[in-house]
Amino acid sequence: MNYVRISVKAPAKINLTLDVLAKRPDGYHEVEMVMTTVDLADRVDMTLREDGEITLDCSASFVPDDIRNHAYKAATLMKEKFQVRQGVHLYIDKQIPVAAGLAGGSSDAAATLRGLNQLWNLGLTKDELAKIGAEIGSDVPFCVYGGTALATGRGEQIAHLGAPAPCWVILAKPPIGVSTPDVYGNLRVAQIDNHPDTKQMLQAIATQDFSLMCQSLGNVLENVTLSLHPQVRQIKDLMIASGADGVLMSGSGPTVFALVQKEAKVHRIYNALRGFVKDVFVVRMLGAQDGEILA
Ligand code: C5P
Repeated sequence: MNYVRISVKAPAKINLTLDVLAKRPDGYHEVEMVMTTVDLADRVDMTLREDGEITLDCSASFVPDDIRNHAYKAATLMKEKFQVRQGVHLYIDKQIPVAAGLAGGSSDAAATLRGLNQLWNLGLTKDELAKIGAEIGSDVPFCVYGGTALATGRGEQIAHLGAPAPCWVILAKPPIGVSTPDVYGNLRVAQIDNHPDTKQMLQAIATQDFSLMCQSLGNVLENVTLSLHPQVRQIKDLMIASGADGVLMSGSGPTVFALVQKEAKVHRIYNALRGFVKDVFVVRMLGAQDGEILA
């Protein structure tokens, strides 16, 4: 099928666990993370350009429209690697908060890789797209597949998992942007005293045990971001006080999420948070692998 225009969903992810095992000689950290996609998503529209140019527009004006943008970088890499004559105009409809710990930029890049594979007729597999994604950022390979996975290495090695127990996810982002390199830079690996039990989380997912999943939530970057931004702690406390079953910061933050099984609790937590922060989203986990192409 030859497309001239294609739209791809770019869902946000949350970390159910994030453990750091060691600092690597290349400056990255060796991690172990359980991640899952949720139904808060950007949309990336791709329109074929016969003049070979790569251009980008975004619904949020503060998002860069050049090589600093991961989606732009993805298009440039694909064009160079496969010597594509055509170009593309990218339009990003931004719904995922930026610099939030939700992998919005990485997911836009992954959606661009998936979309251009179709638009430019490249015939690449998802594994090949994920490998290219690793050149853009550590979270991009996970976002190529979506669903639920254990990510290791610097985050680019993906082992697929089944869907966790169905539940509601309430996301709240305080009005601050967090720099991932700053958070990793402030982490002292030898002093980590809150390593999550990744094995137990894997078991919770395999058995779809909601309460075990809530007990197994853990993120070693949380204490670093909490010390830099005390508002994050206030949001966590508010979620717990409003009856959340499990609460954790996602990625390097500052977004915090609450897991809830009963719908009645969702409204209570949402209302409590809305009095405090503007960016609050009620979403569902997407569960298994997705990667939906819209048109
Ligand atoms: O891979 P990505 O470009 O998204 O990473 C951004 C920054 O986060 C890296 O430059 C590094 O400082 C930090 N990081 C890390 N270990 C990882 C992933 C990211 O130290 N596994």
